[in-house]
Amino acid sequence: MYNETVKDHFYHPRNAGELEDADGIGEVGDINCGDIMRITLRVERDIITAIRFKTFGCAAAIATSSMVTELANGKTLQQALRISNADVAAALGGLPEEKLSCSNLAADALHAAIRDYRARRSP
Ligand code: FES
Ligand code: FES
Repeated sequence: MYNETVKDHFYHPRNAGELEDADGIGEVGDINCGDIMRITLRVERDIITAIRFKTFGCAAAIATSSMVTELANGKTLQQALRISNADVAAALGGLPEEKLSCSNLAADALHAAIRDYRARRSP
């Protein structure tokens, strides 16, 4: 059901965990199934210098979380905001059709964390 890239990110997730004193926190969930994805960011001069995820969800949700942290790490906030849910699924080499809703959490959580960072900084 899952390709090798997805399995690799599920079995060896990148950037799992949570940053202490994060500059931005994004948490999104799917109310229908109760899955939650939480992303914490550290930002320096508009660049994401560290990022971690915590996810309650299925293998697809874990793999997309892991992949979105890899895609976003080291990017400017502008670049990271342009990462779409479809980009994450494509970077994983595709996901089963019935799992696309799970994968939609990842970029949403990233964008929510960036919005949180900006909201905290705006006077
Ligand atoms: Fe709930 Fe995928 S995250 S089934
Ligand atoms: Fe909840 Fe997939 S079933 S996001």
